[in-house]
Amino acid sequence: MSDILKVAIAGLGTVGVGTVKILQQHADVLAKRCGRPVNIVAISARDHNKDRGVDLSGYQWYSDAAEMARDADCDVVVELIGGSEGIAKDAVEAALNAGRHVVTANKALVAHHGTELACLAEKNGVSLNYEAAVAGGIPIIKTVREGLAGNSLSRVYGILNGTCNYILTTMRETGRDFDDVLADAQKLGYAEADPAFDIDGVDAAHKLAILASVAFGTEVDFDAVHVEGIRHINAMDIQFADELGYKIKLLGIATKVNATIEQRVHPCMVPEGAPVSTVEGVFNAVVCDGDFVDTIMQEGRGAGEGPTASAVMADVMDIARGISVPTFAVPATQLQKLPTRPMAERRGAYYVRLMLVDEPGVFADVAAALRDHEVSMEQLLQRMRDPGEAVPVVITTHDTTEADMVNALNAIAALDTVTEAPCMIRIETF
Ligand code: NAP
Ligand code: HSE
Repeated sequence: MSDILKVAIAGLGTVGVGTVKILQQHADVLAKRCGRPVNIVAISARDHNKDRGVDLSGYQWYSDAAEMARDADCDVVVELIGGSEGIAKDAVEAALNAGRHVVTANKALVAHHGTELACLAEKNGVSLNYEAAVAGGIPIIKTVREGLAGNSLSRVYGILNGTCNYILTTMRETGRDFDDVLADAQKLGYAEADPAFDIDGVDAAHKLAILASVAFGTEVDFDAVHVEGIRHINAMDIQFADELGYKIKLLGIATKVNATIEQRVHPCMVPEGAPVSTVEGVFNAVVCDGDFVDTIMQEGRGAGEGPTASAVMADVMDIARGISVPTFAVPATQLQKLPTRPMAERRGAYYVRLMLVDEPGVFADVAAALRDHEVSMEQLLQRMRDPGEAVPVVITTHDTTEADMVNALNAIAALDTVTEAPCMIRIETF
């Protein structure tokens, strides 16, 4: 271990600048806590001349992040560019191949290439740390990988995307439009470079795939995640949820069922009063069910400059202190590949909103489709509209399988009296 830990930072946007600020503002306390100074030596971004609001004059500039990762005189490369391919991947691979530790906030990269990068890190005897990639400022990777390491975990779930939680909360509290609230989340630095990753559930799916790997000792398997986003949720659904005693949350849920893994990201109706229902705005929460610890929940800001940089810093400090644990809790070559539990086997209750032509016999057809697929109704709400307009009808069901629910909805969607695609939201009671 050299006296000073020399850090090179690739990417100086929201998270990169936050990381520079912590390293500059807390230099003394970081040195005390790590037992040695932690100094930035090199930086890379696209635009050398951009004013980033921090003093970068003392650091060596590289216009090529991969060259910096390979050639700079550093111990750690902190990758804060983003993207599963291209320069971010090149820089991380260059660093690992050069025997340098890597810290990254890049969930897309870890979700798509985590297993192979972990093998590369282990082969080169260095760490690949990614705390900031999952749930922003919440130290959930450390919690699962170290704090809960004595447990067998059966389930991890939670609110994993700050942008979506911010949008759903703000729409409910203010009645503002989806696009308007998304623009706010972008201004606040919460959203991904392409916000479709947030609102289509992909970002949460990246995080869930990583979390499942650490929790269950399995290879990171992003392709196995069932993904739905929040684009189809409208003000009417938020209002109906409220009337029925639920809140709508985009959740990521990973469960180990016998020797299979279920991973799904989709909007859920969560009963008001359930622990995750109270997590609002940009906050994330992760719940872990373990055989000895029982259930724990951690909550904190899931996005933004400060919280994310805080998580990056914890990873850098582990390296400065000489703390090293296997990337995904067990050596990368020993990660298991378990089969995926099909979504069709999910069993639970459902919220369904239909837009129906208001004429005699319409409801009998809907009820027949539910009966034919053995879906049992629990509640029914109908709202009046002006004559001639389609009316919203909301049904909640008793527990049924996803396969039966989907088949019933296909039959309902095919009715002439159904004017738009049914909105289906799974009810999760925990
Ligand atoms: P950002 O604000 O868009 O910053 C990206 C940075 O990467 C910019 O400084 C950009 O340079 C630089 N960059 C782009 N292409 C480059 C290239 N070819 N070579 C070198 N640098 C390049 O992104 P961010 O929000 O900080 O996110 C960074 C990473 O953290 C992503 O993986 C993201 O998913 C993850 N993350 C973000 C948050 C959050 O709340 N924002 C939270 C958790 C994790 P210029 O500035 O010169 O254009
Ligand atoms: N875009 C992400 C979010 C950033 O909104 O949660 C944090 O990973």
